[in-house]
Amino acid sequence: MLCRSRVPIWNSTEPLVVLAPMAGVSDFPFRKAVHAFGGVAFSVSEMIASQAIFRKASKTLRRSFKVENAIHVMQLAGNDPYLMGQAARWAVDQGAHAIDLNLGCPAKQIAISSFAGAALMRDEKLAGSIFEAVVKSVSVPVSVKMRMGWDKETLNASRLIEIAYNAGVSWITIHGRTRCQFYKDHADWDFISQLARTSPLPIIGNGDIVDIETADRHWQNTEVAGLMVGRGTYGKPWLLAQIFHKLKTGVLLPPPSLVHQHESVRRHIEDILTWYGRESGVRILRKHLGWYSKGAPGATAFRQCVFQETCPRAIFQHINVFYRDQVQEVAS
Ligand SMILES: Cc1cc2nc3c(=O)[nH]c(=O)nc-3n(C[C@H](O)[C@H](O)[C@H](O)COP(=O)(O)O)c2cc1C
Repeated sequence: MLCRSRVPIWNSTEPLVVLAPMAGVSDFPFRKAVHAFGGVAFSVSEMIASQAIFRKASKTLRRSFKVENAIHVMQLAGNDPYLMGQAARWAVDQGAHAIDLNLGCPAKQIAISSFAGAALMRDEKLAGSIFEAVVKSVSVPVSVKMRMGWDKETLNASRLIEIAYNAGVSWITIHGRTRCQFYKDHADWDFISQLARTSPLPIIGNGDIVDIETADRHWQNTEVAGLMVGRGTYGKPWLLAQIFHKLKTGVLLPPPSLVHQHESVRRHIEDILTWYGRESGVRILRKHLGWYSKGAPGATAFRQCVFQETCPRAIFQHINVFYRDQVQEVAS
């Protein structure tokens, strides 16, 4: 039996399975769809730029919205300790149960132009000042999501964890890649495992958990406090519930029935349209329908129809036919 350290906002002794922050994906409708299947301890919002909060941009406000009855962690990005502290206060006023600080974003716009995200891993002093400013500004727990380092020559995650620990940070999420790897190669779970053994703070492991089997393997083979899953949930908002069930009981939960999947997809698409309005909503829902239909019989024809369609009612008709055909195929 492994002795896992605990993340303070998760009082349960049950396995900790978390939905990753994914800008452009883990928005309110998607987080709601994931939480509806249960098993997820909490989800982390898409990153919110600290400066944008003070411009009160509608995109920012949308990103801060929490799912009812769910633990809500809001992620902030930025490089000014004072502004980050102020942003954290604002996030708590919006209902955040914890604040996560982004030290992992590799995108040029963030990490090079704005010297935020993963760039902060290159300036440990500045990162430390941000940790301290945010911890002092709020009474909720503060976590940090980082990579292993900037590149293979500078793997300084463990030093940054020490700095975070001294500043009063409560837990760390490690994506097992460097900034320079972006999303290439494989996440290094030996590195994550080593950190989980030696870190003074609980470590949530992240990277390349694509199914129940990979989640189970990393859970059994490491001492991480929890698992965070991102891209594996594309088109499968039920995956975290399946992972949770396997880690908790050892039993494999099959995916939901096609009828249940159909209902969930309809609700998700309705939420996207309500959330973004018809014009943006129709654009955004396409990528989700692409993921939902991946690998299913008739997926190519379904996508061809639905990707050209701008009328929500017609989109729902295509969805209904797509699922009806699948149910009939299984029954025959
Ligand atoms: C489309 C996309 C958007 C992302 N946005 C964020 C973000 O806003 N904040 C963050 O910390 N990480 C972000 N990430 C990184 C993920 O949280 C996660 O660390 C990474 O995808 C590795 O996990 P996975 O292999 O389970 O997807 C993003 C990843 C993707 C693919």
